[in-house]
Amino acid sequence: MEGTLQRPKHTAELLQDILERAKALPEQGKVADYIPALAEVNPDYTGIAVAELDGNVHIAGDAQIPFSIQSISKIFGLTLAMERMGDALWQRVRMEPSGQAFNSIMQLEWEQGIPRNPFINAGAIVVADTLVSHYSASRTALIQFVRSLANNPLIHADETVWQSEREHGSRNAALAYLMKSFNNIEADVETVLDHYFYQCSLNMSCVDVARSLAFLANRGLQPSSREIICDPRSTHRINAMLSTSGMYDQSGEFAFSVGLPAKSGVGGGLVAVVPDYGVICAWSPKLNRFGNSCRGMYMVTQLAEELGLSVYS
Ligand code: DON
Repeated sequence: MEGTLQRPKHTAELLQDILERAKALPEQGKVADYIPALAEVNPDYTGIAVAELDGNVHIAGDAQIPFSIQSISKIFGLTLAMERMGDALWQRVRMEPSGQAFNSIMQLEWEQGIPRNPFINAGAIVVADTLVSHYSASRTALIQFVRSLANNPLIHADETVWQSEREHGSRNAALAYLMKSFNNIEADVETVLDHYFYQCSLNMSCVDVARSLAFLANRGLQPSSREIICDPRSTHRINAMLSTSGMYDQSGEFAFSVGLPAKSGVGGGLVAVVPDYGVICAWSPKLNRFGNSCRGMYMVTQLAEELGLSVYS
């Protein structure tokens, strides 16, 4: 009988296997170039990390190379803002899927400057406004928060990407000024945008991202430091919004086929939370038409399926 039985694969072995399959897929997708500095990245990078709550981290491929986390940073900003603002935050940003592209302007006009959720650009700009208004040095507060979550003091913003975002940020500026006209931005718009672009330009590896967000899989308690980052009600809320809005206009499909709270960024990162187990982060720069990483989607989908990780099963 032995030999005919399939030995369950060790997680690291499984990751390697999935990574190789992802790299063997037919070429698809395109690196984001609407922020020119992002187009400089090697499109073939592919990595995946799984940080388990017991402290084990499994990796394959380029999981230790820092990349531009872009919209994944919206989770860090939101966590800080929820702690600072309490329920008042939900007067200024809603918790509904948008059904629009992440940088769409139309809906914001119809809905009087109140963004649909904190994971579209307009919502994250409102969140940035609350941070700028509440902290004397909001960028420092954010980077210290991220470094301590990831236990990596070397995490920093990429100056070139930050500058490139500023230079090519007309659409984000339009969103911010439109919200200002509806009195939904309190601070100086340029200062708010500067904070927003800064957090988008943070560089982190898959390992950093997976480790830093472990509290979302652990009811708010960061397993490595035993520090309470937020209460279980907040992790419930963040995970719920990640499930409905984290993958933008592909969130429904992602819930349907994977079933995990997740967030993507146009740098090609994709992070998925597995409650009571850990956090997965995959990275590969080529994006599909929704702005989600093609290989990242494939790898997380395969891993979730093979390990039976869906929260809906
Ligand atoms: O503001 C922007 O457009 C980018 N800095 C971030 C967008 C992003 O990552 C959307 N994610 N899929």
